[in-house]
Amino acid sequence: ETQPEEHTKDAWWKRKREELLSLMEEQDSVYVYDRETLQKYAGFIKDIDAVDRSLYAMKANDNEELLHAVNELDLGFECVSIGEVEKVIELFPGIDRDEILFTPNFAPKEEYERGLELGVHVTLDNIYPLQHWPKLFEGEEVFLRIDPGHGHGHHKHVKTGGVHSKFGIPRFEIPEVADLIEQYDISVKGLHAHIGSGIKDPHSWKDVGIILHEVAEELGGVQILDLGGGFGIQENETQASLDIREVAAYLEQFKEAHPEYELWVEPGRFLVATAGVLLTKITQLKGKGDVRYIGVETGMNSFIRPALYGARHTIVNLDKLDEPLVQTVNIVGPICESGDKLGIDRRFPESEEGDVVLLANAGAYGQVMSSDYNLRPPAGELVI
Ligand code: LLP
Repeated sequence: ETQPEEHTKDAWWKRKREELLSLMEEQDSVYVYDRETLQKYAGFIKDIDAVDRSLYAMKANDNEELLHAVNELDLGFECVSIGEVEKVIELFPGIDRDEILFTPNFAPKEEYERGLELGVHVTLDNIYPLQHWPKLFEGEEVFLRIDPGHGHGHHKHVKTGGVHSKFGIPRFEIPEVADLIEQYDISVKGLHAHIGSGIKDPHSWKDVGIILHEVAEELGGVQILDLGGGFGIQENETQASLDIREVAAYLEQFKEAHPEYELWVEPGRFLVATAGVLLTKITQLKGKGDVRYIGVETGMNSFIRPALYGARHTIVNLDKLDEPLVQTVNIVGPICESGDKLGIDRRFPESEEGDVVLLANAGAYGQVMSSDYNLRPPAGELVI
């Protein structure tokens, strides 16, 4: 297999429907992650020959069982905070520190100190630490996060390139960076870029590579080009999927042109999104004129993506999967905000209190972004 499944045709949660329904006899709301699906998606990335190392962006989902599964697949970890770095080291004390890339943004000085002390790769995404704390990095190897000048992704909140993004070192600062690293005997082991999340254009990573390569040639001595994450997935049946074979082909071309550099990538969403579903139960039904509401036990406190980004994830009534879709409904949670909608204008079967509702492709940026807003505990997690 070389292409992610079209989830609407062959979603794992359809095959495992009975198992999911029986889990819900004991629960009100829960995230369920399917280990096999994670392994399968990791396989798509590992099959890209041009890529020398893949680091899992653990911000997407830091469930410990999943981190163990990722570690067994021989992937490294991309960590955005010292908390994430320490969690990986605590779970896998024997891990080669070379497999951990720390990519903080506007972090306090102490986090960089701690990163260096722990012996992981530390990324600078601003010239400020070099200007103001140069002694800290004297004689060290670092990564630099470059802003290629453009962002990409499913929503403006997740585009991380260009002047309106707070991430990365702009190219016009490279000469000053070069002077500082020379002055303090710092070596730039790798260049890093991550221009956004939920990207479906297969040439995006090669485009970033071309820019990183130019900067690497300007600086000299660079060994690694890390093209970031951002590999998009299908959130619902109307969306296209990312053609990962095409990504692979573009990266092969790039690697052939520049074999002297190691290529790294940092997928987060792509590995875990499709592997996760959020299950919840219908609490109440309401009709206001023509507008129908189906209330479920959890909402934006468990899954904020629809409210925050207008994300549209497939939602089904798992108890009535094969019944005709006879009504258009809004699926809403119990949180005290009008934006607490998991789904707007969805075709749904005749439904009743207690039915299990499934929100698909929710394994990334779901539980990790949940809160206990309104003192409503968010959904827990299970791995099957
Ligand atoms: N590398 C870096 C430096 C990142 O900042 C990120 C994500 C990734 C890798 C992984 O990106 P991915 O492959 O998962 O797209 N909460 C948003 C997504 C925020 C992404 C933050 N950075 C969402 O739910 O769409």
